[in-house]
Amino acid sequence: MNTRLTLSLATLLVSLGSNAFAQMPPPPRTSLPPGTPPPAAPSPAPVAPQAAAPSPAVPLAGLTLAESASFRAGTAAFRQVETVDSGLGPIFNDVSCAACHNTPALGGASRRFVTRFGNTTNGVFDPLTSRGGSLLQARAIDPAFREVLPRNANTVAQRVTTPLFGAGLIEAIPDATLIAAAARQTTDGVHGRVSLLNDVTTGTQRVGRFGWKAQQATLLAFAADAYVNEMGITNRFFSEENAPNGNTALLAQADQIQDPEDEVDPKTGKGDVDRAADFMRLLAPPARVASSPTAIAGERLFASINCTTCHTPSLTTGPSPVASLSRKTVPLYSDLLLHDMGALSDGIVQGTAGARDMRTAPLWGVGSRPVYLHDGRTSSLDEAIRAHAGEATAARTRYTQLPAASQQQLLAFLRSL
Ligand code: HEC
Ligand code: HEC
Repeated sequence: MNTRLTLSLATLLVSLGSNAFAQMPPPPRTSLPPGTPPPAAPSPAPVAPQAAAPSPAVPLAGLTLAESASFRAGTAAFRQVETVDSGLGPIFNDVSCAACHNTPALGGASRRFVTRFGNTTNGVFDPLTSRGGSLLQARAIDPAFREVLPRNANTVAQRVTTPLFGAGLIEAIPDATLIAAAARQTTDGVHGRVSLLNDVTTGTQRVGRFGWKAQQATLLAFAADAYVNEMGITNRFFSEENAPNGNTALLAQADQIQDPEDEVDPKTGKGDVDRAADFMRLLAPPARVASSPTAIAGERLFASINCTTCHTPSLTTGPSPVASLSRKTVPLYSDLLLHDMGALSDGIVQGTAGARDMRTAPLWGVGSRPVYLHDGRTSSLDEAIRAHAGEATAARTRYTQLPAASQQQLLAFLRSL
């Protein structure tokens, strides 16, 4: 049995033992006419004991001793199970980063999804911020605080967990590279756009590249956001708790711990947000499987039918103080740009990403992803390709017109990544 299969079987066995809610297949995205009762929110799940450890994480090759120490401290923060005493909640989605990012190893993806919601009226999206949107926190430290989908939420989308392997390399790709790529003339009516945003950790305008909507530019910003929004751990960038469905009176009753809950260690100048960011930054990229003649033929087809218009085979990092991240080729198979994906989109407006915009999913490591597409709707690569729409329609059509044997070669190539 190959190692990847062994790893994912092991993780599957481990995850079967953990809480059932986390393993529920995501329901399809719904777009309900106004006035229709919203679908039931996921049922409350108790704070599950941490499942047995996933396979250990592999750091980038060639780290200095100090960088290796940062990776180890980061690994501990990433795995740390938060409790009510450490600041968990009052509303949250899970108890550690590792609870969601664990397949096929620590830092990976999983079938775990989160729910986004809003109200779309006459094509205008309202994230229902005053009702706790757009991210639903499905769990609470006390059932009395638990969030529900507001009645007028008629756009509800599931987002499945993405892997973090090689995230430091993605972070080190200069904004200018992505801006230049967006300006380039492409074929098939494809035109990627950068996700411009204000980075909360530096206060500067940056190009987003992380998340299904390219909604964050830096790993520190994503970590700070995940601590407060997925676990309810306030930190120096986000010092206010989420009020359950926007109810601040309820929050006042619920929250007994002084903010920010994530404390900066005066000796190192770092809190858990910084340590988790270090872990992700120094995490090795996915290991590529040795190429077979079939996969090599598939790679040629992938380019010839223009999948590479969006799934750019590689980008290059800029200079970095970390030698292992500096001026490296990054074979991520993504342009990290937003594209109008038509029917394959989630209806949620986030930052400059419109309702139909999605970030080109990086395809490195796609062979060991448990499920595909933003809502994790399929575990079949063939189905994931056939679901492409919008700007990807021409490439999708060329794929469907390939002889079956050629399609198999292309899929073998994807599985080798
Ligand atoms: C409840 C499950 C859950 C927890 C807990 C969680 N994540 Fe995630 N993570 C997700 C999901 C789902 C996405 C995709 C979200 C999106 O794009 O809207 C994601 C995406 C990310 C990404 C973007 C990677 C990319 O490029 O796509 C980063 C970085 C990340 N998480 C870091 C963290 C860190 C650090 C923690 C702990 C502080 C954490 N996450 C906790 C579910 C989780
Ligand atoms: C217009 C840009 C574009 C083109 C062209 C394109 N893709 Fe994609 N691809 C995307 C986006 C955006 C996503 C993420 C979709 C989502 O939100 O679920 C994606 C997702 C995927 C996924 C799922 C990855 C995951 O992590 O879930 C696979 C596999 C894939 N593409 C393969 C292909 C193949 C093969 C082709 C050529 C036939 C192709 N793509 C052409 C933009 C594109």
